[in-house]
Amino acid sequence: MEILVNVVGGFVVEVGKFVRKCIYPKIENIVRFSSKIENIRQEMEKITKLRDDIKGKVEKDEGEGYKPKPDVINLRSEVWTQAQNSIQVKLCSLKNDGESFGSNLMEENYRMEKVEHLPGPSIKDQPAARRNLHKILQHLENDEVGIIGVWGAGGIGKTTLVKNLNNELKQIDVSIRSKLSFGVVIWVTVPKPPIDIRKVQAQIADRLNVKVDTEGSEESNASKIYERLKQEKSFLVILDDVWEAIDLDKVGVPQPKDHAGSKVIITSRFLDVCNQMKIDTEMKVYTLKENESWALFIKNVGDIANRKDIQPLAMEIARECGGLPLAITVIGASLRGKNMAEQWDDIELSSEHENKKRGDIRSCFLYCSLYPASIPTNDLIHCWWAEGFLGEHDTYEKAYNRGITIIEELKNVCLLEETHLKDYVKMHDVVRDVAKWIYNTFGDEHSSVIQAGIELIKISNVEVVSASIKRLSFITQGIQYLPDNFTECPKTTSLLLQRNESLVKIPDKFFCHFQF
Ligand SMILES: Nc1ncnc2c1ncn2[C@@H]1O[C@H](COP(=O)(O)OP(=O)(O)OP(=O)(O)O)[C@@H](O)[C@H]1O
Ligand SMILES: [Mg+2]
Repeated sequence: MEILVNVVGGFVVEVGKFVRKCIYPKIENIVRFSSKIENIRQEMEKITKLRDDIKGKVEKDEGEGYKPKPDVINLRSEVWTQAQNSIQVKLCSLKNDGESFGSNLMEENYRMEKVEHLPGPSIKDQPAARRNLHKILQHLENDEVGIIGVWGAGGIGKTTLVKNLNNELKQIDVSIRSKLSFGVVIWVTVPKPPIDIRKVQAQIADRLNVKVDTEGSEESNASKIYERLKQEKSFLVILDDVWEAIDLDKVGVPQPKDHAGSKVIITSRFLDVCNQMKIDTEMKVYTLKENESWALFIKNVGDIANRKDIQPLAMEIARECGGLPLAITVIGASLRGKNMAEQWDDIELSSEHENKKRGDIRSCFLYCSLYPASIPTNDLIHCWWAEGFLGEHDTYEKAYNRGITIIEELKNVCLLEETHLKDYVKMHDVVRDVAKWIYNTFGDEHSSVIQAGIELIKISNVEVVSASIKRLSFITQGIQYLPDNFTECPKTTSLLLQRNESLVKIPDKFFCHFQF
């Protein structure tokens, strides 16, 4: 009987585990349902056989005059039948549970796509960029390569290239190139230094639908991500814009060499950083050749650039961009729609009204550089409006619409970019650097302090604040408190303190130094 109890007991525990697994709300292995049922049926057969074997043996020994132990006698009692009945009841209920799922087996509104499409310019018609893309695809298919470093100057097109690669992986016929059929492709925009591993972890966890505690330790987040990625047949993690080497173990990304078929791609401006991350191969992205630059320029400006009277000027401007896609797109797009040769030669021909509007757009553009990373559009428009960049309007709604138009115009000329988040825009680093340079070169009217990216705890640590400061930005600084004493800033019109989560109170006296 002991044997029987053990077998039946173990079996019931198995059934219990199975029931728990099956009716757990997030059914992951529902496809294995019928094979589990089959397992149970086979177990039932084994137990029945075991019982019959023991029964046969006992009857034989009894025939020879031996007396069975009391436990063994029980074998012939109702106990077995009861155990069998109870298992049958459980199986029935399990079957009902399974049937009640119907076709509604998955969480609503959630489906983890293997590859998510990323918005951005396509390199479909660019032979040189496509060659680079194919080179990376070959590295991805090479078993000897685990980590790939893509590097080159700012604005050269690394992010664009890797985004196109990501989108290609979504479309590629994986039946022909099966090594490119990753279980999941994860895109991470790496935050600027000082690097916050939690922010990297949050992006990966979000993509994998893994819950990580933003307050929790890096280690516990890392082990959750690690366990989840280990379950994937293979993964590709793309770490875009790495400024300082990141320890994959700290993030929770398994080392590709320990997880066959998985890869990591990093993009960086610096080969050093790639090497510190122990890349297996590197690929440099070069400036565009003259014919490629011209093609991209035309794409941004339109056919007008080929007109006889404009073409010589257009070609000179395109050449001046030095093969840097960022410069070509920004300058090209700003010349779009200008169909007079004079406009190309001298863009100061507009009316006063037009000039005022252009001045406002310029101020709006420069203002964006006060934000270190992604910019919430509503917040931005509100600030523009408060600064008086949106013109005179009877209602905020009308001013808001003007703000939206300006954002669209800035996006059209590539001075702002879309992000994967609706209601947010971002500014390319190089464009921001240019904007900051303009800000700081145009004297008092535009001068500002931008401390984005520096971990400040006390705002009073900033030494460069002068009385003529027009705009102060301390977004994402980790500021914990503000001082009572601060430089008198009578000319300041904007003080941005968003995202300082530890800053809970602003002392009244602090505002006395400003005259908003
Ligand atoms: N091949 C391309 N075709 C069309 N536009 C491109 C191409 N490459 C880059 N661009 C444009 O140039 C801009 C800068 O490119 P990208 O962001 O890819 O540069 P990057 O090398 O990643 O720069 P950074 O080092 O600052 O991250 C993009 O916003 C895009 O509009
Ligand atoms: Mg980039």
